[in-house]
Amino acid sequence: MFELTGKTVFITGGGGGIGAGMAQAFAERGARIVLADIERDFAEQESARLPASAEARAITLDVRDLASWRAASEAVGAIDVLCNNAGISTGFKPLVELSPETFERLMAINVTGVFNGIKTFAPQMIARGSGHIVNTSSMNGLSPFASFAAYSASKFAVLGLSDAVRDELAPAGVGVSTLFPGLTRSRMSEADANGLTRANMMDPIWLGRAVVRAVENDEPYVVTHPEYRDALADRQSRILAAFGEPAQPGYRTGPSATR
Ligand SMILES: NC(=O)c1ccc[n+]([C@@H]2O[C@H](COP(=O)([O-])OP(=O)(O)OC[C@H]3O[C@@H](n4cnc5c(N)ncnc54)[C@H](O)[C@@H]3O)[C@@H](O)[C@H]2O)c1
Repeated sequence: MFELTGKTVFITGGGGGIGAGMAQAFAERGARIVLADIERDFAEQESARLPASAEARAITLDVRDLASWRAASEAVGAIDVLCNNAGISTGFKPLVELSPETFERLMAINVTGVFNGIKTFAPQMIARGSGHIVNTSSMNGLSPFASFAAYSASKFAVLGLSDAVRDELAPAGVGVSTLFPGLTRSRMSEADANGLTRANMMDPIWLGRAVVRAVENDEPYVVTHPEYRDALADRQSRILAAFGEPAQPGYRTGPSATR
């Protein structure tokens, strides 16, 4: 069990809905909180809501920029939990209508941002032999749908990266979890929402509490919205159904690098 009392938790996108929910939940466990966001005002607003025991700090961070991460690391020193949570969506739009600049910006924040966070803080966790990293993917990182292609691609990337890095860091005693939110109340989801979806949003504190339990118990996956299960099962079964005979007649399967 990973004891969180007195530990330092660094949350990117900490000025946003889900990041703030995580901050509240870690604070409930007696952790110290750093809220890092490109919008410092958002991070400051959320840090003001946390209890004094959280010794909350708001810092400016652009997750796309390694120099910005280095400055953050120098400012906060050692941390115990890193939540790579900052992310953007492009709204519902066919892929062909996305500009190359929008696609690149999405990937830089949603994917490179996660790489930069791990690159900055994992070495100190490895050296210490303890720590935990939480990466925010999405249900769209398991079940893509039309008009959300680029976002889905970025969130699939977060899952692939997280699963592999979990295996890489386990021998060093560092845990990695992936969070797959479904619809949750936040600035992003409010901007994308229509009347129907707006009525159906989960409160981010519950995602935060699920993340806290996953860190405490070193769980690989955090699923907060079980209603997406059938869509995922359907997709997985369609992929498994495509596994048949080898494409090359007579090809013999040998030991494989993949599992
Ligand atoms: N809300 C949902 O329904 C939902 C569902 C699935 C996944 N997610 C994911 O949850 C995460 C949090 O999003 P949210 O819903 O709380 O949205 P949000 O917009 O409330 O929060 C995102 C935060 O990230 C910050 N941010 C944006 N670019 C940044 C950058 N370059 N560097 C640092 N911070 C930056 C924003 O200022 C914002 O405060 C995202 O990764 C999002 O993709 C959200």
